[in-house]
Amino acid sequence: MSGNGLAGKVAIVTGGASGIGASAARLFAAAGAAVVLADINRTDGAQVADEIGAGALFVQHDVRLASDWDALFEKAEHKFGPVSILINNAGIAVAPVSLEDVSEADYRHMIEVNQISCFLGMRAAVPSMRRAGGGAIVNVSSVAGLKAERGAIAYTASKFAVTGMTKVAALDLAKDGIRVNSVHPGLVETPMVRPAEGAEAFDAIMQFAAGLPIPRLGQPEDIANLILFLASDSASFLTGGAYLADGGWTL
Ligand SMILES: NC(=O)c1ccc[n+]([C@@H]2O[C@H](COP(=O)([O-])OP(=O)(O)OC[C@H]3O[C@@H](n4cnc5c(N)ncnc54)[C@H](O)[C@@H]3O)[C@@H](O)[C@H]2O)c1
Repeated sequence: MSGNGLAGKVAIVTGGASGIGASAARLFAAAGAAVVLADINRTDGAQVADEIGAGALFVQHDVRLASDWDALFEKAEHKFGPVSILINNAGIAVAPVSLEDVSEADYRHMIEVNQISCFLGMRAAVPSMRRAGGGAIVNVSSVAGLKAERGAIAYTASKFAVTGMTKVAALDLAKDGIRVNSVHPGLVETPMVRPAEGAEAFDAIMQFAAGLPIPRLGQPEDIANLILFLASDSASFLTGGAYLADGGWTL
């Protein structure tokens, strides 16, 4: 079928318990897809899946673990059939910290969650997508996957890697009818940028957002709509692309 409708498709959304991932899962379900929400956060993930209803399944899943990826695709395929859409969205960020103060353990942890996750997910997706007759992968990078962010060496490295591996995957998987694109959100109002740790930092973020060409924080739906488009057959000629949704920040 063409258009943004996803009827008959089976989608996996990582980080589906919160923010952009939860929004994408809701939009996908509304567009007719069966949706598997994967997250380490069982409580919130199961709640979002319950709200969506019969077309949704929650699977507890750590994106860092290859064994969890195998189990995730097995469960998704068992419940709904071969998977044709994967949204690699789960991720973490930390408060800005200068390069010299970043511990090796923290750097490695960021790379595992934000970067190695995407590699493992794309690799695990291939057999199921072949059985589905093709597919679409959307990797959620960041503005920080295209330009340097002060005080964010590990995050920026992880997101540049996602931008690059998206392009290699697009080349490697085109023969299987699998399209791979990355999206690059600017500042989006989710628990990632509105942490519990205090209003002061968030006030500074709001001030920054007010100075953008589109003078506001993004909302999860602003990004989820782009993800939906890229995952749908409307985007059938798009692969290897890096798509910004940043309110004009990088202009
Ligand atoms: N919010 C922003 O301003 C912004 C900007 C650019 C890019 N992004 C990217 O968007 C994506 C979604 O972020 P968000 O803003 O919705 O954040 P969020 O914190 O609301 O959601 C992230 C989700 O990822 C899950 N997660 C974390 N580690 C995991 C792991 N090891 N295994 C499985 N799940 C794990 C969390 O439990 C959470 O549900 C991230 O990749 C983030 O880097 C966000």
